[in-house]
Amino acid sequence: MYCGFRVRFVGRYVCFSNRLTELEELLEMARRGLSMPLLIYGPEGCGKTVLLRYLYQRLAEGYEYVIYYSPLHGVDEGLVSTDDVKKAVISLANAFGGTLAAVAEAVLAVGELLAKRLGVRRAGGIAILLDDVFQAVGSVELYVKKALTVVEHPPIEVDKTFVIIASSEGVGLEAVGRHLWTNIKTLWNLDKEGFKELISQIGGDVERLWKRSGGNPRAVELLGDEGWSVEKVIKKMYRADNIDLKLLARHKAIVERAVEDPDALLEAPQELTRYLLSKNLVARIIDPIRRIERDKELGIGEEYAWQTPLHRSAVEIALRQLKGAP
Ligand SMILES: Nc1ncnc2c1ncn2[C@@H]1O[C@H](COP(=O)(O)OP(=O)(O)OP(=O)(O)O)[C@@H](O)[C@H]1O
Ligand SMILES: [Mg+2]
Repeated sequence: MYCGFRVRFVGRYVCFSNRLTELEELLEMARRGLSMPLLIYGPEGCGKTVLLRYLYQRLAEGYEYVIYYSPLHGVDEGLVSTDDVKKAVISLANAFGGTLAAVAEAVLAVGELLAKRLGVRRAGGIAILLDDVFQAVGSVELYVKKALTVVEHPPIEVDKTFVIIASSEGVGLEAVGRHLWTNIKTLWNLDKEGFKELISQIGGDVERLWKRSGGNPRAVELLGDEGWSVEKVIKKMYRADNIDLKLLARHKAIVERAVEDPDALLEAPQELTRYLLSKNLVARIIDPIRRIERDKELGIGEEYAWQTPLHRSAVEIALRQLKGAP
């Protein structure tokens, strides 16, 4: 637990809970610098934003230039860097039209900005942390290719570059996955140790919450907002997801098997896997940053996993609807 970095959780401030293995791995990569962008993919609410914001602090200790950008948080809060870099990025973004997507483009042009606007010829290190940019940019593929170009052909001489793109978008991942433009890694929910640290700060039944949330902090927040009623949260998720029952009916047998073991999806037609990924119900597990243990109870397989046990329960409601149908 690191209390020098505090984050909002279930309506209060808590200390950043254990992500030691992941941090060690990422900081080691940052020490080396990378030859292509790192795409961190993980369940919604697993803690990508918090991790990237914490990484910003840590990288700012060793890297000369560090930029964090999250279009979802707007420019004021979502663009973080030193004042001169931030100003240069915003001014270029305004020339591109001033939209959130324009800022995302301008962030990737940081090398040119350093050279042309700030007179920098050489840099020890440039780190760019991009959070949920896929929803903002027009073409995910083009954006990722541009990120690769930043790393491969920086316009100034630079000792090391480190570009991370975090996303929970399964479909974006598919678009990027067909090219060798990124190093894709999965960030999973908190492990049991980290989860205990987190829950100990708000008080609660760790085992019960672990079984329902699978270590996903956002799932705990959802439960907290619904008075800790698992049933209410599952029903709400089911309704909000607006699951396509016709599609599910076409693949009922395999969905039933996937409820028992998500790796059953390895044999599923693309129509189904793409749907479950696009709804953020399941996630692909690709080269996890921390080893993810297979866990039948939590719905975690070798290659596929339910984002949390709550997501699996929402699909179980859908299956029950099918049984009830004539
Ligand atoms: N390691 C952690 N310690 C304490 N709180 C955490 C930690 N990780 C996540 N949280 C809390 O859990 C919630 C979800 O985290 P966060 O927003 O970082 O997830 P995310 O993966 O970025 O979600 P999304 O996919 O929606 O962007 C937030 O309230 C955050 O403060
Ligand atoms: Mg996020």
